[in-house]
Amino acid sequence: MARILITSGPTRQYLDPVRYLTNASSGRMGAALAEAALRRGHEVVVISGPVSVDYPAAAKVIQVVTTTEMLEVTSHEFQAADGLIGAAAPCDYMPTHVESQKMSKTGHKLHLELIETPDIVATLGAAKSRSQWVVGFALETEDIRFRAIVKMSRKCCDMIVSNSADAMNSESNSVEVILKDGEIVGQFQGTKQQVAHDIMGLIQLHLMDPSQSGTAS
Ligand code: C5P
Repeated sequence: MARILITSGPTRQYLDPVRYLTNASSGRMGAALAEAALRRGHEVVVISGPVSVDYPAAAKVIQVVTTTEMLEVTSHEFQAADGLIGAAAPCDYMPTHVESQKMSKTGHKLHLELIETPDIVATLGAAKSRSQWVVGFALETEDIRFRAIVKMSRKCCDMIVSNSADAMNSESNSVEVILKDGEIVGQFQGTKQQVAHDIMGLIQLHLMDPSQSGTAS
C-alpha cells in the first residue's frame, strides 16, 4: 500500500475580498483518481481547491484556496508520501497586490499587475527522493505530444498524462500517458472514472512495481 497525494480542482487568487481569478476545473478527474487509488488499497490525500464535486469518504481531503497554499500543504504532505499526482489546475498568475477592501468602480480602466504563482508539480518534482514519484498532467491545443514531453522534463515528472482541451469541466476525458523516457504506454478515452482506473493501473505498473514492467522509474 502506498500513500498517494492528489492535487485537484482550481485555485483562486483574490483581487479584493469578493473578486478572484480562477478557471473552470471541476475536480472530477482528481475525485476519479482518488477513487481508483483507494480501490487499489492505497491511502489517499487530496489537496483540493474550491470545488463542488464530492471526494470519496475514505480519502483525507485538505481544502485550500490559493496556489501558494496548495504548494505549502502539498509540500508538507509530500514528506510522508510515496507519490504525487498533479491533477489540479492551479492559477498560474496572482495579483502583486490584494486590496483589503472591495474596489469601487472609478469609470476608468483598471490595470492589474500579475506575477506567476509557484509551480507545485515542478517544485516537488525537483525535490523528490529516489523512491518518490511525480505524475503531471498536460493540457495543450497544439504540438500536444511534444509539449507534454517538454513539460514532463521541465517539471521533473516520472510520467505525464496528456489530456484533451475538452476535458476541463467535462464528464469524460481522452488521454495519452507518457513515461519520462518518452515511451507512450497508454491511450485511453472514456468517462473520467474509466480513464482514472487505467491511469492508476499504469502508475502501479511503471512507478510502483517497476520491476514487473522492466522499466526503471
Ligand atoms: O504548465 P501547466 O499548467 O500546463 O502544467 C500542468 C501540470 O502542472 C499539472 O499537473 C498541474 O497540476 C501542474 N501545475 C502545478 N502548479 C501550477 C501550475 C500547474 O502543479 N502552478
